[in-house]
Order: sequence, then C-alpha cells, then structure tokens
Amino acid sequence: MSDIRSIDELDAKGKKVLVRVDFNAPVDDDGNVTDDTRIRAALPTVRKLVDDGARVILTSHRGRPAGEGYEEDFSLAPIAERLQELIGRDVALSRDIVGPDVQNAADALNDGDIMMLENIRFDKREKKNDPEFARQLASLADAYVNDAFGTAHRAHASTAGVAEILPAYAGYLMQREVDMLTGMLDDPKRPFVAILGGSKVSDKIKVIDALMDKADVLVIGGGMCFTFLLAQGYGVGSSLKEDDWVDAARDMLDAAEAKGVRMLLPVDVVVADAFANDARTEVVAVDAIPDDMMGLDIGPETAKLYSDAIADAASVFWNGPMGVFEMPSFEAGTKAVAEAVAANEAADTIIGGGDSVAAVNKFDLADAMTFISTGGGASMELVQGEKLPGVEALR
Ligand code: 3PG
Repeated sequence: MSDIRSIDELDAKGKKVLVRVDFNAPVDDDGNVTDDTRIRAALPTVRKLVDDGARVILTSHRGRPAGEGYEEDFSLAPIAERLQELIGRDVALSRDIVGPDVQNAADALNDGDIMMLENIRFDKREKKNDPEFARQLASLADAYVNDAFGTAHRAHASTAGVAEILPAYAGYLMQREVDMLTGMLDDPKRPFVAILGGSKVSDKIKVIDALMDKADVLVIGGGMCFTFLLAQGYGVGSSLKEDDWVDAARDMLDAAEAKGVRMLLPVDVVVADAFANDARTEVVAVDAIPDDMMGLDIGPETAKLYSDAIADAASVFWNGPMGVFEMPSFEAGTKAVAEAVAANEAADTIIGGGDSVAAVNKFDLADAMTFISTGGGASMELVQGEKLPGVEALR
C-alpha cells in the first residue's frame, strides 16, 4: 500500500474526519451484538484519531436495508452501544446521514468526540455511488479515512465516491488486511498450502484458479468437493453437487496436474440419511457413497491426509469449512483442519474471512492464527486478483 496515504500521515487535530468502517456485525433479536470482531478490529484507527484530537464521524452499513429510509431492524444503535462500551467514550448516533441537522451536529463536535451516522444504506444513493450524495457526505468533514476492508469490494459513495472529494487515508485495519493478504499471495513462504471449502464450486472457481498459480498444495473440502468427486468418476449419492460445473472441476484437476500443484480431495466422507444433526451417519470411502445418502463432512482418513499436508506448510491460506460444522455431527473435519492450522506455529496462517472465521472462533483457535481477515467477499476478491474499489479510490 506504499502509494496510499496512511492515517499516520494525517494531521487530525481539530479536524472533522469521516471514517468509513465496516460495522456490519450480527445482532440478535434482543439487540445484542453477537460477534463484535469487526468493531474491535477498527478500534486502533478510532482510538488513534480520538487521541490525536480529531472529531470523528463514523459511517457504516449494516445488512441490506431497502434504501427507503430508517428501518429499526438495520439500525446501528446496537453497534454504537457496543462501540461505546469498548472505547469507553460516548458515541452519539445521528438519525440523519446527510443534511443540515447532521451538519450542525458535526460542526458542534469537540476534539476527541465521536459521532456515528445511521446505517448509510438507509439512503439508496449510497449503493449507487451517487455523486451528489458523496458530495453531501464529504461536506460533513475535512478528511476521510477508510478502514472498512470488509466493504472494500463495493464501489459505493462512502467507500469510493467520498475519497475522490476529500483528502483520503487508509486506516490501520485496511492497511493490515491488504498487506497481509497481498503479502502472502505475492511472496508466500513455501510450501504454500491453500485450503478451500464451502458449498459451491461456482462460488470458488475464480479463487481456485488464482491460487492454482500460487499454491503448492490445494486442499478441497466442503460441499464443493462432491462436484470434484463426480469429475473423478465417483457417485456422490444425494450430496450437494453442481452438474453444470463437473467439466470445470475436471479442467481444474487437469490444470493442477499440468502445473505440478498437488490437489488434495477427500478419500472418505461422513454421509448422512438427512440434513440433520441427529441423522443416521456412516463413514464411507469416496467410491462407496450410498445412493440415498449425502456427504456432510470429510472423513477421518481425509482429515489426517489434510492435517499432514498442513503440518508441512510454511504458509497457509484457508477459506471455507470442510463440512457442515455448525452441526456437531459434521464438525470433525473442519475442527481437525482448524487444529492442524493452529498447531503449525512456524507457518504464516491466514484465515480468509467468512465461515472459516466462524469455525475458528467456534473451536476457540483464533488466537493461534497469524491473521484473520474481517472481509468475506472483499478478501475473496483480493485473492482472485481483482482490484477493490475501496482501495483503488485511496490511491
Ligand atoms: C460483508 O459482510 O461481507 C460486508 O459488510 C459487505 O456487505 P454486503 O455484501 O452487503 O455489501
């Protein structure tokens, strides 16, 4: 990120600083934030600005509201409350996002004060990157900091438009995310083992393609492995599969062979007679999946094969669970992989967002990882080699 200005270069004292954060965090029915990782991750940036005497104006989205104005279910109120607890300062939530009232509130801030604008997506102009909306947002502040790595793949007014108008800087989280992910991809310590799971080949094909040129070993698990097993000529019973993607899976297997990339696929799976934790289960070899059963996890032989490959790695990138780890009956494969990654203390280990982060947290192994990305879609797009509008706008 050497061509992007860091927040360290911002002389923030007395300035109103608009800070785009990604506080899109889960909230339960009682209004409690159930995972505050993203809020904690932005604290170094917010604290730095407060300590420097900036007048901080935070903006974030939460979920996908209609864009027709305030909706309580998508309010940032629970988030503002949690931030207040974490940072130990008042966080005033402004119902308006732009306009004279919020302008007055911003102008009335003192050095070190924090205010938060309501969900930026309550205004549909946000997602359209509407220039007038971006101009109004920008008029609230003297400078702009983007710390919302998780939303960097969106070209919206608060992630891209505003950066064209105000002096723009990258926050600490944004810098660390981009540096960690691009660092591993550009110059991985070898052997580099990439572990990919999740339900669909179609969702991961670009990531697999990109990693094929970088990794030494590609480990495949999750629902998408059944499309690969079909490509290898096995029957997969009633497992999740994408018939239209079998040819692509076969091409990937061929490409891996041609490039000398070791591609690891399951040798055994846990099958069940229903998609339920209390289903009848069995461990079978991949050439013996019964017609009327579905695979919901990798089997113990596979877990061992994958763990051995991970133990030999000097760097590991992991995105996507190995099975339906949310159900205890099908968590063993994902848990084994998480434990193998955690146990390899000598390796650089990066967890690439989304469900694998939830898995690592479930098994209480987060502290053992080198880096856990707060971006789901954003980290995938970065790994795919795509330019992120939120990052490009800072250049
Ligand atoms: C995420 O959770 O991946 C980000 O906050 C982006 O959310 P979006 O997919 O609704 O744009």
